[in-house]
Amino acid sequence: MRKGIYPGSFDPVTLGHLDIIRRASELVDELVIAVLRNNAKKSLFSVEERIGFLKQVTADIPRVKVISFGGLLVDCAVEYGTRTIIRGLRAVTDFEYELQLAQTNKRLRPDIDTVFLTTNVEYAYLSSSVVREIAGYGGDISHFVPECIIEDVYKKAKRGEEV
Ligand code: PNS
Repeated sequence: MRKGIYPGSFDPVTLGHLDIIRRASELVDELVIAVLRNNAKKSLFSVEERIGFLKQVTADIPRVKVISFGGLLVDCAVEYGTRTIIRGLRAVTDFEYELQLAQTNKRLRPDIDTVFLTTNVEYAYLSSSVVREIAGYGGDISHFVPECIIEDVYKKAKRGEEV
């Protein structure tokens, strides 16, 4: 069985993430979506909230599992029995960071590879931070996040408390 792992902060999940998830799920038998548990980085949504959003928006996608991880990504990949890390690439601005991440992970675990899916051009500008900012000011986020989480995103983002 070929498994892939799609890691990220997902604070919150966007339509760009969801597009990658749908396409990645076609490439593997099981896709593990791994939410980073990182206390050093301030986030708007708790890990539990982010997992809840991801489960909601992927409910119709078969063979997808949502988990959280707190250590190294490669250790998480090994724990879940996958040697394929999947990341989305939006633009050239992502490239340097993604290359560093992929090469570091390769150095740590030579048996694990990173596969990049280019983001749909429709979502090339989109990021979770853009969503947080627009939602915080009450702007329209309907083109940015899945419909079923819009209200929840507004509720939290308008209060603007980071965790
Ligand atoms: O959505 P993001 O914030 O761009 O995702 C970044 C993520 C979670 C993929 C990255 O920060 C990560 O893998 N963190 C876990 C720690 C780790 O393995 N670091 C070593 C590689 S530099």
